[in-house]
Amino acid sequence: MVCKILLCFLAVGLIYYSRYSSVVVAAFGFSIFGYIVTDYLIPRVGPSFIKIGLFGKDLSKVGKPVLPECIGAVSATVYLFIMFFYIPFIFYRYLVTVTSGGGQRDVTVDQWQQQQQHTQYSVFPHSRLSEYLSSTLCLESTILLGIADDLFDIRWRHKFFLPAVAAIPLLVVYYIDFGVTSVLVPGFVKDLISKTALFLHNKGLPVDISLRDITSIDLKGFYYIYMASMAIFCPNSINILAGINGLEVGQSIVLGFLALINDTLYMTLGSELTKNSHRFSIVLIIPFLGVSLALFKWNKWPAKVFVGDTYCYFAGMVFAVVGIQGHFAKTMLLLFIPQIINFMYSVPQLFNMVFCPRHRLPKFNETDGLLYPSRANLKENPPKSFFVPILKLLGICHLIDLEIDEKTGQLLSCSNMTIINLMLVWFGPMREDKLCNLILACQFMIGVAAIILRHFIGSIIFQHDNLWTIK
Ligand code: UD1
Ligand code: MG
Repeated sequence: MVCKILLCFLAVGLIYYSRYSSVVVAAFGFSIFGYIVTDYLIPRVGPSFIKIGLFGKDLSKVGKPVLPECIGAVSATVYLFIMFFYIPFIFYRYLVTVTSGGGQRDVTVDQWQQQQQHTQYSVFPHSRLSEYLSSTLCLESTILLGIADDLFDIRWRHKFFLPAVAAIPLLVVYYIDFGVTSVLVPGFVKDLISKTALFLHNKGLPVDISLRDITSIDLKGFYYIYMASMAIFCPNSINILAGINGLEVGQSIVLGFLALINDTLYMTLGSELTKNSHRFSIVLIIPFLGVSLALFKWNKWPAKVFVGDTYCYFAGMVFAVVGIQGHFAKTMLLLFIPQIINFMYSVPQLFNMVFCPRHRLPKFNETDGLLYPSRANLKENPPKSFFVPILKLLGICHLIDLEIDEKTGQLLSCSNMTIINLMLVWFGPMREDKLCNLILACQFMIGVAAIILRHFIGSIIFQHDNLWTIK
């Protein structure tokens, strides 16, 4: 209790102090508030969720206890409140020194006159506000979709594309305010295009010779399709890497820290242009970490609550929003490598080439308390015939555990295709918390490696990196 009161004082202090420093300081203050409020609410609202039927059985525990479901809605709601309260702090210097007329409280007449000469101070940044508000709108719609899914258990083929609709406000603001749809061409591709263009030109063919100097390709509308796909992918990919205590929220926290590492690099080494984008990312992610850490406290093994699809969609969309509005959608996708691998690995089951049971989470053995890979019954639900050889190949490569009838050669069952089950196939049965920690540790290491590759190898391949070259 004393600790929480001290934390509250610290939060108030940070938010107050942010008037004289940076919005990042306010982000820490709001994050602490987010943590305290979420942590306070979760145990209090849990029973009400169960009362209205929002509960689920913890399938990996003895006796399958009933736990409140959809508790991620608490974190998401606290986060939205933070987003609203945050607005005056983000735009404090514009609101106080110029717009309200009351700003003279903080500055001397000389300073005020100086400020009037700087358009930076006298023009309210409507574009920044529209970025911020469109992000909030997008997150609100996503949270609604998540709650609808938790309430009505919507079929995944129906809900799969809906996050793209929620992302429309983001894409419109991106189009108006930024609009960059070009991607850099790697150095070796540039050389190849240049040599080919010159060769064809010398042969007398009608080739545009300016292709020699190509440095980027404008994807135009395709870049918007790419960003919409990201809004679909991020929420869904977190939702399908799920089923063991703490994993949904744990992976989101790791993603948040990875994004912060990348942001810190830009804030310390980057140009003013990149700093603005990454400040926006920090402003969204630090409070997200606050509400998520509180949820993790209650969802980690042995879980007291389930986060629900609401949290998975909300968390995924926070990263999509940060990637799109922070203008680093491609780097953000690099942080999702484990989720991308899990998605690709799941494709045969998601697209019904192999039977996909309602739950693919590992199988709990009550006798030893360990998790074993769960299996898809291929005897009763045979896979598509063209996929049988691929399944056999995956079995030979130890990428699935395949059970084959030795006499007839018929496929009997295979481990479900998620990286959670794959860990169990590779490393043997494990306790739930150990499995979760193992996956999170791998995710963190892959993420750090991706950031290093992005900035070191990336700058060699593209002969350019916006962290080092634009100053
Ligand atoms: C996704 C996965 C499904 C996985 C489920 C687990 C796909 C296509 N879908 O479905 O395979 O089984 O998530 O979240 O990959 N549960 C636990 N322990 C946990 C977390 C969840 O037992 O730590 C169980 C509970 O019964 C809970 C239920 O999973 O009620 C939640 O499932 P839900 O989120 O509705 O499943 P989907 O997201 O549809
Ligand atoms: Mg789910």
